[in-house]
Amino acid sequence: MKGMRWLLPVVLLAVGCNAPVVECSDAGTTLTYAEFGQPFMAKYCVSCHGSTLAEKGVRLDTVSGIERSKGEVVDQAGTGAQMPPSESLIPTTAERAQLADWLSCGGP
Ligand code: HEC
Repeated sequence: MKGMRWLLPVVLLAVGCNAPVVECSDAGTTLTYAEFGQPFMAKYCVSCHGSTLAEKGVRLDTVSGIERSKGEVVDQAGTGAQMPPSESLIPTTAERAQLADWLSCGGP
């Protein structure tokens, strides 16, 4: 690994990632809100983070709401698994990785 150390800053510069823990894939950088963000949030998050109920003031039914909470969403539902709460419909590991990828490398 030692000889590969130069690679990380080069990759980060090349893709302009603002969350270095996440590796950007082609899908992460090209998927649109309509293709990924909107359906993901609608399925897993909007019941508690939408216009009728906005837990902790977090809104995930709009682009501006997602952008406002982006860092926390990556931490709590992408790289971490605090959200959604355990009694809810839970995204797969692959979907969580895709969420982190999308928000960190492309996003709405
Ligand atoms: C069943 C309801 C429910 C669902 C579904 C849900 N959340 Fe939450 N969410 C909550 C509650 C309740 C809180 C406030 C928790 C607290 O006060 O610590 C919260 C808080 C948050 C916060 C703010 C955390 C903070 O510390 O300020 C974020 C970000 C978040 N949720 C993201 C998501 C994402 C992303 C999803 C979908 C993947 C999701 N939530 C799905 C109920 C939900």
